[in-house]
Amino acid sequence: MDVASSQTLVPVHGLLLTEHIAENFENVEKFQARPDDVVIAAYPKCGNTWTSEIVDLIYCDGDEVKARRDAIYNRVPFLELCVPGMPSGIDQLNAAAFPRLVKTHLPIHLMPASFWEKDVKVIYVARNAKDVAVSYYYLHKMSSAMPDPGPWDVFLDNYVKANVCYSSWYDNVKGWWEKRHDHKILYIFYEDMKENPKKEIKKILQFLGKEMSEAIVDKIVYLTSFEVMKDNDMANYKTIPTEFMNQTISPFMRKGIVGDWKNHFTVAQNEQFDEDYKRKMADTDLHFRTEI
Ligand code: A3P
Repeated sequence: MDVASSQTLVPVHGLLLTEHIAENFENVEKFQARPDDVVIAAYPKCGNTWTSEIVDLIYCDGDEVKARRDAIYNRVPFLELCVPGMPSGIDQLNAAAFPRLVKTHLPIHLMPASFWEKDVKVIYVARNAKDVAVSYYYLHKMSSAMPDPGPWDVFLDNYVKANVCYSSWYDNVKGWWEKRHDHKILYIFYEDMKENPKKEIKKILQFLGKEMSEAIVDKIVYLTSFEVMKDNDMANYKTIPTEFMNQTISPFMRKGIVGDWKNHFTVAQNEQFDEDYKRKMADTDLHFRTEI
């Protein structure tokens, strides 16, 4: 059974958000960034937590004891987060030590202007649309912050129609891709991280202007592997109470693979999805791998 959820989604500048995030959005728009902030941006379920753990470990020089000082959602506050009875992402960021790491799922056109005024660096992580659909479905089943997804075919239809929280995967990945040369944006892919994590970590290091010994880079590769993060309570969301995230329904660190969509899409769903995908991606040179 899914977690009980009465969440409804509300459009803000055309983007569907949870009610509470929507109510607080004016505060997000007014957020004051700093030049030493680093943003980790992604559509939901594209590898934000993984990338956040990598960046925090880089800032800790690979010291896992330091990196385990707090849960990932406190080490890297979620910019637009707003849940009643908890400090908002903005409150957390305003109280955070510098330099701050900032998580967001916003499409580029809704990023607070201050990030661009302060020329802040952004690492954008993208993941193929089919694996995101599956991962997002399971998040809806286990998280009370998300609306009830209904059965898989209903959820997939809503996802394709952008009738989910954060609306269209297509608009999010394309929007950031098109503007990647206009700002300090490093655009990386989940599939590349799976295939060769060391190579992608080195790209992140270079982008952040940091140098590190091979031994520390190897240590970060190890500490951010799926198996180690799944076991790390400061990275796997197990510190969130069960009524908000029921990990007996589906763990936050679920499978961490490329191609799980093959276990969920029927042949007909796949054909229909591919046809729609071709149309929606016809205007971009952005390409994804759905298997590695
Ligand atoms: P799955 O549900 O496919 O397993 P986000 O952090 O953006 O919400 O993304 C969550 C997805 O990233 C989940 O995908 C999760 O398992 C996966 N993930 C998290 N850490 C990972 C890691 N170290 N290696 C591979 N995948 C990881």
